[in-house]
Amino acid sequence: MRDLSMHITDIVQNSVRAKAKLIQLTIEEKGEWLVFTFEDDGTGMDAETVKKVTDPFYTSRTTRKVGLGLPLFKQNAELTGGTLEIYSQLGEGTTVKADFGKDHIDRPPMGDLKSTVAMLITGNPEVDMVFTYRTKDDEFRLDSREVKEVLDGMDIRMPQVTSFLKEMIDENLKEIKADL
Ligand SMILES: Nc1ncnc2c1ncn2[C@@H]1O[C@H](COP(=O)(O)OP(=O)(O)OP(=O)(O)O)[C@@H](O)[C@H]1O
Ligand SMILES: [Mg+2]
Repeated sequence: MRDLSMHITDIVQNSVRAKAKLIQLTIEEKGEWLVFTFEDDGTGMDAETVKKVTDPFYTSRTTRKVGLGLPLFKQNAELTGGTLEIYSQLGEGTTVKADFGKDHIDRPPMGDLKSTVAMLITGNPEVDMVFTYRTKDDEFRLDSREVKEVLDGMDIRMPQVTSFLKEMIDENLKEIKADL
């Protein structure tokens, strides 16, 4: 079974493939809900594609007939009483929003969130990412543009950067008492 971090990788890779320059991932603990919002400025989809996209027999990739990233994410959200919605405009970008019943017995575990976020940032050096985790009273925000600024021209793909980011994300999520 896919944990939530694996779903995050899937959905962010869709945005990367759609040539996004900026991807914003927000995770929010909102009462009984765990809300994931992915916002990108990639190619977007037309209305017909948006309609088809949560249907497992639709994909625009030619190498494979069945796209599963969005349908599986949607199915897992719905199994916890939640929903998945897509807002997209051709040439503008795409927003994917999924609510999971936070304490529902069928909610997949978060998985390795710190490594996932660190790898998505360092593995896609040409894309900027803003990761936000919000609890009821607090918030942690990581902007890859600030990381790149600190690196001052050094390659973000260096393994030390990934370990540094992992540790930094871990410490901050503990600090804000994220319920992982
Ligand atoms: N952020 C996005 N921007 C533009 N198009 C998107 C975006 N996300 C998904 N799509 C479109 O929706 C299709 C379905 O996405 P989905 O993740 O379900 O499957 P896939 O990416 O084709 O295959 P898989 O995820 O199984 O490798 C994609 O092929 C793409 O055409
Ligand atoms: Mg996909």
